[in-house]
Amino acid sequence: MSRLVDIFKTKNKRRLKRTAKVDLRIPVHLAVIMDGNGRWARKRGLPRTAGHRAGAENLENVCEACIEQGIQYLTVYAFSTENWSRPTEEIDTLMDLFIEFIHRFDTKMAREGIRLRFSGDLAGLPAHLQSTISHAEENSRHRDRLQLIIALNYGGRRELAQACRKLAEQVRSGKIEPDTIDENLVRSALYLPDVPDPDLIIRPSGEQRLSNFLIWQSAYSEFWFSDVLWPDFNREHLLAALEAYTMRDRRFGGLKQI
Ligand code: IPE
Ligand code: IPE
Ligand code: MG
Repeated sequence: MSRLVDIFKTKNKRRLKRTAKVDLRIPVHLAVIMDGNGRWARKRGLPRTAGHRAGAENLENVCEACIEQGIQYLTVYAFSTENWSRPTEEIDTLMDLFIEFIHRFDTKMAREGIRLRFSGDLAGLPAHLQSTISHAEENSRHRDRLQLIIALNYGGRRELAQACRKLAEQVRSGKIEPDTIDENLVRSALYLPDVPDPDLIIRPSGEQRLSNFLIWQSAYSEFWFSDVLWPDFNREHLLAALEAYTMRDRRFGGLKQI
């Protein structure tokens, strides 16, 4: 899907309106590594947890912008399997914040037609968060404007290891033969097999790595990096990323379209 929008860009703190209008190509599935909350807080002399709160609030704005642009799936990386190595205090605040976010965002999600889904090793999350997650998924199952997928206790390596285990169990129980295991079968054992691969992955905060995010699904994703810290990442930055994505030549191993 593509639509005509005005593109704005911030350069040297000056807001320049592009003279040209760009017909944007809109990704079906956008994924975002919500990074930089801690640095955002430190810059303001605030505790890291204040940055996480600001980051959660920002997600609401970015969801609105995604709906406006006609994006159908938005996956956001909120907590990795490696983030357990942080101080207990920060982890506890994050878990509480996830519950608070899901409750607070609930009415808004219903109004906007947002379906909420989760991806990750959910069994490893605190019990209260697990039950909040199941309620939110069940309550929003019928909504279809945007699927917001929150990657929680997510690790691409763990997802693949768990997929291997599921397939091994299917072999043991005689459901499948080892030589039928192909790319489609591996995909079917991932956390959310019905969700298409992300077309575009955005990582703000200046880091340029995947940090164990969607390692199978990102095989042919386009990447866009920005120095902006996640709590400051706004609609304008999203439009800049979409503009860059529009210019990409996605060949999937084939040849350039003439
Ligand atoms: C991302 O922000 C949120 C989580 C990983 C939970 P960070 O907390 O990693 O922020 P920085 O990278 O330290 O600034
Ligand atoms: C990746 O950010 C995970 C999330 C944003 C949830 P990190 O801050 O944990 O990643 P590294 O440690 O910089 O690679
Ligand atoms: Mg970080």
